[in-house]
Amino acid sequence: METTRITVPDLGRMKGAGERITMVTAYDWTFARLLDAAGVEILLVGDSLGNVIQGHDTTLPVTLDEMVYHTRLVARGATRALVVGDLPFGSYQSSPERAAESAIRLVKEGGAQAVKLEGGITMAAAIEAIARMDVPVMGHVGLTPQSVHRMGGHKVQGRRHGHAPGSRARVVEDARAVESAGAFAVVLEGIPLDLAAEITTDLSIPTIGIGAGAFCDGQVLVLHDLLGLSARAPKFAKAYAALAEEVTRAAEDYVHEVKSGAFPTDAHSFHSLKPVAANG
Ligand code: KIV
Repeated sequence: METTRITVPDLGRMKGAGERITMVTAYDWTFARLLDAAGVEILLVGDSLGNVIQGHDTTLPVTLDEMVYHTRLVARGATRALVVGDLPFGSYQSSPERAAESAIRLVKEGGAQAVKLEGGITMAAAIEAIARMDVPVMGHVGLTPQSVHRMGGHKVQGRRHGHAPGSRARVVEDARAVESAGAFAVVLEGIPLDLAAEITTDLSIPTIGIGAGAFCDGQVLVLHDLLGLSARAPKFAKAYAALAEEVTRAAEDYVHEVKSGAFPTDAHSFHSLKPVAANG
């Protein structure tokens, strides 16, 4: 049965109609299929895979080759959801040309329908260069994990007044710059809920919040936080399952049954063909 793909214009219409948008990160084919079938509208192949798949403390070591690889796995599993590939640190900041070339790789080799990058005013030229090629770009402002060293940690942004990076007025200016540069949506991460509400009203493109309160046009969660698989889930996340406990229980049961001889049973075994009787 043919499924209709969620498109970039659909997301704009959803904002207009007041219909909330759902986005979840995905990193492989198995989970992409499940999330797609569950009705999630956007699958973000996030560079958070540096944390939850690779075990790094930051997203900075993730490479473009790794993002292309994971985007390809997710794109293969998603038939309805819009697949957005994240541009990793170092693949777009140095020049708009570099940004455009990296975006092309995520679309051409990874199969993404759109890309995402972090940053506002300073990344406007990169967003313009990608959007000029008709590759839809999602922005990401507020707490931007690739700026972890400038922020002094993964800290809530937009609490202080002023125009310095991370201050309230600057987050608003960043969000406006992202929209003016041609982005089709913007992630608002780690900012006070009243600031996120102000930006959501101010912008005509959809805002997708994470740690930004309830007044955004949509929400995104990291898959491992949603499933209760994360070693350290952030305060803003909600686990809809307790899979870490479930995985541990299943693995412990397996170890116990193999050691005790309870697994495998005859039902899990193959049997030889009956010997054919020799003909006279
Ligand atoms: O990489 C990621 O998972 C993200 C989301 C947290 C928005 O950028």
